[in-house]
Amino acid sequence: MKALPIIYGVVTTSALAAAIGIPAVIHERGTQAVSTWQAMVSPGDLSAKHAFLENDCEACHTPHRGPTADKCIVCHANNEYLLSKQTTAFHSDVAECRGCHLEHRGAAKRSVEMDHMVLAAIVLSRAKSEPGFGAMQMSSLPVGHSRIQPLETLLDCAACHSNQDPHRTLFGIDCAACHGTSAMTGWMIPEFRHPSPLSTDCAQCHQAPPSHYMMHFQMVSMKVAGVVHADVSQCFLCHQTNSWNDIRGVGWYKHH
Ligand code: HEC
Ligand code: HEC
Ligand code: HEC
Ligand code: HEC
Ligand code: HEC
Ligand code: HEC
Ligand code: HEC
Repeated sequence: MKALPIIYGVVTTSALAAAIGIPAVIHERGTQAVSTWQAMVSPGDLSAKHAFLENDCEACHTPHRGPTADKCIVCHANNEYLLSKQTTAFHSDVAECRGCHLEHRGAAKRSVEMDHMVLAAIVLSRAKSEPGFGAMQMSSLPVGHSRIQPLETLLDCAACHSNQDPHRTLFGIDCAACHGTSAMTGWMIPEFRHPSPLSTDCAQCHQAPPSHYMMHFQMVSMKVAGVVHADVSQCFLCHQTNSWNDIRGVGWYKHH
């Protein structure tokens, strides 16, 4: 599978590096600039983490342009955790922060609201200005993606979410064939009903962990389950449908 994360596939750090170069040092602002902003009406309290900026509107706002990414990046360029997590690694090369990072909603709300449509719009505009980027990323998904917006078919779901794939690629990498992007439902598919525990088709939909294809299977798994003859594909002999650790006829088992 191509592991090219969608947004930053082409240049990894250049956009960010460029952006860091732009804003000099925010501490060099004059007090005059501050008073201009203080005359402006704030639409609401800042999020708790940004509350310390309540008298420093210009930390985020650029006169006549509103909040701009360069300001955010001054303080947020080196977030190793963010860049090392598959889903958020795109931050290394994204030039737009609005849409997913909302503000002035009060201290109780975090300034984060993931929006895949914002993401798709960023991908689209970038693809328009960088033909190479488009050719690589805009292999629109085939039909049958009723759970996502047409624009979202530009997104390579697996590039950001394959680490979360509980199907271990058994269902392919076209996650949006079955899943939507709504934060409300998440990965849930309300109409999905799991097959009966009496099914013997488990292996059609479930891939066993690597340990099951090693000596561990004979030495531990079969012994724990008390099953003398079994092929790895016969999950149903040892497993139930509620949890992989609830071994049939044995109960909860967790090895260390
Ligand atoms: C397409 C949506 C999107 C865009 C665009 C975006 N972000 Fe994010 N950002 C997120 C999401 C989602 C998270 C993860 C929040 C979480 O882990 O709960 C995040 C996390 C962060 C965090 C870490 C938050 C924490 O809890 O510590 C920072 C800092 C951040 N983004 C800054 C930025 C900056 C600066 C920009 C613009 C250069 C930007 N983001 C653009 C969606 C976006
Ligand atoms: C931590 C960064 C941050 C600080 C500090 C901040 N703002 Fe904002 N502000 C934003 C963001 C982001 C938006 C865009 C609204 C959204 O998408 O939720 C915004 C939106 C606004 C808007 C609506 C118009 C627009 O451009 O969208 C006004 C007016 C505003 N801010 C005024 C202020 C004032 C006045 C202060 C200082 C008292 C201030 N802001 C401080 C981040 C900030
Ligand atoms: C003057 C520096 C500064 C500026 C400018 C700034 N931030 Fe922050 N931001 C912080 C600090 C400090 C925190 C708290 C970090 C922590 O707790 O680890 C924070 C927290 C955050 C978080 C985590 C929010 C949460 O509730 O968990 C996000 C997301 C974020 N900032 C995005 C942005 C965006 C987008 C902008 C531009 C609109 C911006 N920041 C501008 C300093 C700044
Ligand atoms: C550029 C990276 C990126 C792409 C591409 C992407 N997502 Fe996401 N997705 C995120 C981020 C970031 C979050 C917020 C949660 C987090 O930080 O992990 C998220 C959250 C979700 C959630 C909410 C549940 C959860 O895991 O938090 C679902 C469902 C989801 N995405 C589905 C999809 C689908 C389906 C596609 C393809 C149409 C897709 N995503 C494409 C980055 C991406
Ligand atoms: C052929 C359809 C199909 C495809 C393709 C598919 N899934 Fe799923 N996935 C499902 C079904 C059905 C469920 C169970 C939903 C439920 O319980 O509501 C599920 C559940 C999930 C869950 C939730 C597991 C849990 O904790 O209960 C995640 C996460 C997930 N899928 C991620 C992915 C990712 C990532 C991809 C792409 C790499 C993907 N899926 C591709 C059908 C699919
Ligand atoms: C038609 C496909 C299909 C078949 C057949 C099937 N499953 Fe599942 N099963 C799923 C999907 C989809 C999920 C939700 C995503 C995930 O966790 O993998 C799931 C979830 C599970 C879970 C996880 C529960 C949890 O939340 O931890 C277990 C355990 C499980 N199945 C066991 C079995 C067993 C045992 C069999 C055979 C008796 C079986 N399944 C047959 C599709 C199937
Ligand atoms: C001979 C009995 C047996 C068969 C057949 C079997 N397993 Fe297991 N499996 C076990 C036992 C026992 C454990 C817990 C102890 C261990 O790790 O061996 C386990 C653990 C697991 C775990 C949890 C691993 C973890 O780290 O928590 C998963 C997932 C799993 N099996 C999936 C499957 C799937 C999918 C199949 C069929 C394709 C399958 N197993 C076939 C006995 C079996």
